[in-house]
Amino acid sequence: MNDLTQPFKRLPVALIGTGSYVPERRLTNSDLEKMVDTTNEWIVERTGIEERRIAAPDEKTSDMATNAARKAMEAAGARPGEIDLIIVATITPDPFTPSTACYVQANIGAVNAAAFDISAACSGFLYALKTAVQYIGCGQARTALIIASEKLSHIVNWEDRSTCVLFGDGAGAAVLRTGTGIEGDSAILASDIGADGTLTDILLVPGGGSAIPTTEENIHEKLYTVAMRGNELFRHAVQHMKDSALSLIKRTGIDPNDIALVVPHQANLRIINAVTARLGIPPEKVFVNLQKYGNTSGAACIIALDEALRAGRAKKGDIVLMVTFGAGLTWSSAAIRI
Ligand code: ACO
Repeated sequence: MNDLTQPFKRLPVALIGTGSYVPERRLTNSDLEKMVDTTNEWIVERTGIEERRIAAPDEKTSDMATNAARKAMEAAGARPGEIDLIIVATITPDPFTPSTACYVQANIGAVNAAAFDISAACSGFLYALKTAVQYIGCGQARTALIIASEKLSHIVNWEDRSTCVLFGDGAGAAVLRTGTGIEGDSAILASDIGADGTLTDILLVPGGGSAIPTTEENIHEKLYTVAMRGNELFRHAVQHMKDSALSLIKRTGIDPNDIALVVPHQANLRIINAVTARLGIPPEKVFVNLQKYGNTSGAACIIALDEALRAGRAKKGDIVLMVTFGAGLTWSSAAIRI
């Protein structure tokens, strides 16, 4: 999506803190070997995933989101009353309505914040980031809390080996701000979002909405679980992640050599390697943690960014490139000076 407001002076927006949360329970590849016809070798070779986290039965998407949000606010030094916008990216909301963002608002006591959810699957966090940047850049908000949280274990068919080995649960959050309190020249330099709605059928949860309402029969047929044509998705993921990142690099004029770290969507190591090779980014500049958590959809890239920053993989002033891809199809990228 092009930035059509170039002539207007926008307020600078910086990312001032991140946080993440994953549930305690680990589900390893050898656990999955006992559940479906698969092997640790197949999963590691085809995806790079070794284990994933599974939320407790009574642990909600908003609980994970709240935990991640509190850590991000602590890192940012942001008080609940200062937050004027909360956006939660999720495809596994607590109920369909009200929004998960409203539950988070109540949990953290952010009484001055507007709150709503965004649905863009694995691209959700960067869609939320771009939305918040527009609000802040136009002076409609000063401090935004953006979160991606997913309880994918709830919508996975645990009898389908082609999908159940891929996903996990978790949440990540970031605080964005303009004005005083921004250190140095930290900034969201640019972001890109896009979609191709002609390919909705490659990856979807068919049932439970208005198209295929919940009925006993639909539940029996597991239409409330993820259905995916993985092979096709793989090709689209590589193409769109590469194109989105390249358009961002071109638009910002960033020299690819000046990118300190790439934090991609954590779906499949082979996708990450194919995309970053095409961008000419060496492996040592790419952050990968999918071996520990699998694909946590929209949460994956912000959990990864939080871990990368806490591990010192990027320092103040460094440029980090994030790039994601997901159901919709949707894609997104962002260049951030830390
Ligand atoms: N264990 C063992 N065998 C398996 C498993 C499994 N868990 N899953 C599938 N297979 C078998 C298939 O049945 C097939 O067998 P066949 O040749 O006898 O028919 C064979 O392995 C090859 O299957 P493919 O689907 O062609 O395997 P592929 O190499 O494409 O890997 C995968 C599958 C990992 C899903 C890959 O296509 C992929 O990662 N695609 C991207 C999709 C993705 O990341 N989705 C997540 C959500 S979207 C997003 O986040 C971007």
